[in-house]
Amino acid sequence: MTVSGAIRKREEAAAPRHFLDLDQLDTRTLRIILDRSQTMKQARYGLPKVLLDRGTPLMGRILAMVFENPSTRTRVSFHIAMRQLGGEAIVLPGQDMQLFRGETAADTARVLSRYVDAIMVRTSSHQSMLEMAEHATVPVINGLTELSHPCQVMADVMTFEEHRGPIAGKVVGWCGAGNNMAHSWIHAAVRFGFELRLACPPALAPRADLVAWAGRAGGRVLVTDSAAVAAAGADCIVTDTWVSMSDKDGDRRRRLLWPFQVDEELMARARPNALFLHCLPAHRGEEVTAEVIDGPQSQVWDEAENRVHAQKGILAWCLG
Ligand code: CP
Ligand code: NVA
Repeated sequence: MTVSGAIRKREEAAAPRHFLDLDQLDTRTLRIILDRSQTMKQARYGLPKVLLDRGTPLMGRILAMVFENPSTRTRVSFHIAMRQLGGEAIVLPGQDMQLFRGETAADTARVLSRYVDAIMVRTSSHQSMLEMAEHATVPVINGLTELSHPCQVMADVMTFEEHRGPIAGKVVGWCGAGNNMAHSWIHAAVRFGFELRLACPPALAPRADLVAWAGRAGGRVLVTDSAAVAAAGADCIVTDTWVSMSDKDGDRRRRLLWPFQVDEELMARARPNALFLHCLPAHRGEEVTAEVIDGPQSQVWDEAENRVHAQKGILAWCLG
């Protein structure tokens, strides 16, 4: 076979395993990913039962990471996940790419697919991320768009389950804007079978079509304008920054979101052993008080660490 024949054959092979949103994958697949993530975490800590999973399954594989927006956790955790699994990662800041000068997402994806084994993309435009996925012949991973942040919520579910056991049947209370994180929590509620109560100002409610999807899919997702309702008896309270990277109306959002701040009084409405989670970066004194995020119920540092382990599971699945 010629080289061009081999390229064509590779491009015509089965569709790549993209990781775009949690609603795009079934529960079994998400569970396989999380189980692998947990095994690889245990192996990292040298737990003897899982020494077998200490190998380098991504030896020789290269991940391109396109960042049109800033990142600390996603960037570092993907990078070291690849390194620890034997592969490599290349960081491509969006403003240094021809994307910034108008090259299309589609053409960028076609070209990167000839160079690397997978593409992670962080961009405000969900549509641009989908366009990359449509035209890439290697897996594309959503590293956060204005619509969703699925990698983070995989780490969040992993963190909850490490501390409190299976999340199915539990209650998660979200207090804040109906933003990208809230949307991925809606997907997760359906796929992992927990009740999700989202307390948001009506002007910043989560997307109605996603809430409707959850209802059709048999999920228990409630949208309320009362933080007290979301927190009542919850097993986990979650929030996020009031002003996301794609938001231009910071002052308005801060005004609307004051009643949704997570403080000790709100935490007291949840179960006594409720966890507090936050994807970070946090703004103490805005969406959460220092007493809560730095207090005994907060597991935000485990949550941040779990980005590495969850992404190992995601990468291992995407790259077969
Ligand atoms: N939580 C999260 O995605 O953090 P970064 O923006 O630092 O990647
Ligand atoms: N909602 C936040 C998440 C940051 C990880 C943002 O989009 O900026």
